[in-house]
Amino acid sequence: MDNGLIQITDLVKDYGEGEARTRVLKGINLDFECGEFTALIGASGSGKSTLLNLIGALDRATAGKVVIDGTDLSDLNDDELALFRNRTLGFIFQFHFLLPQFTVLENVLIPYLIYAGQVTPAMEKRAMELLDRVGLSHRRDNRANAISGGEQQRVAVARALINQPRIILADEPTGNLDTANTENVFNLLREMNGQYCTSMIMVTHDRELAQRGDRVVEISDGLVISDVLKDSSSEG
Ligand SMILES: Nc1ncnc2c1ncn2[C@@H]1O[C@H](COP(=O)(O)OP(=O)(O)OP(=O)(O)O)[C@@H](O)[C@H]1O
Ligand SMILES: [Mg+2]
Repeated sequence: MDNGLIQITDLVKDYGEGEARTRVLKGINLDFECGEFTALIGASGSGKSTLLNLIGALDRATAGKVVIDGTDLSDLNDDELALFRNRTLGFIFQFHFLLPQFTVLENVLIPYLIYAGQVTPAMEKRAMELLDRVGLSHRRDNRANAISGGEQQRVAVARALINQPRIILADEPTGNLDTANTENVFNLLREMNGQYCTSMIMVTHDRELAQRGDRVVEISDGLVISDVLKDSSSEG
């Protein structure tokens, strides 16, 4: 387990109080290695986003633990968690959260700005390259609320990649995209994964896309029901 990057042990998440309390994750055990591209699949309501939010330290578990790179997330206070997220993780949410009053380029640069305090010309160049890769360099000066939903999603992909995080958590990153842009975004994620050994956990409803990862984990009703590692030697 030398490559172990993320260890999830007996992870449980309940929502609600008293009578309304429901167990959404019922004891998840999963390990993820450096550089692994994992697709997370499962029916609507099975707990995929909940799991991603716990791995991303956006929410706290009811029981069990998430250890990333040797750090038990439950040992960190809120400030430490925020720093950890910024340095280690890139997020692409199911409902992207761009800052509407900022431009497309500014949105891509925000994680770097938080990290470094100021934007360098080299970073701006990198942001432009990423925007180019998602087909949006011509939109750089548009406000984020003045572009389409699919375009916003692609900006969110570029934003998630700006700090070259070790882990990218993507919740249906291609959910609102047409075939061509799905292909663009998937290829970009795959490339980042290969180039920088970024570990990718991607929720998708698209089983065909899921098969193009290294590993497919399926969740049903808060439990892992299948975990298939693909044989990389059989790929072209
Ligand atoms: N904040 C919350 N409070 C109460 N229940 C919640 C909350 N968030 C999610 N749930 C419930 O937990 C269950 C799992 O939700 P989750 O969002 O993880 O599903 P999902 O697998 O991501 O589904 P989808 O594919 O539709 O995005 C659902 O039954 C959902 O209604
Ligand atoms: Mg979801």
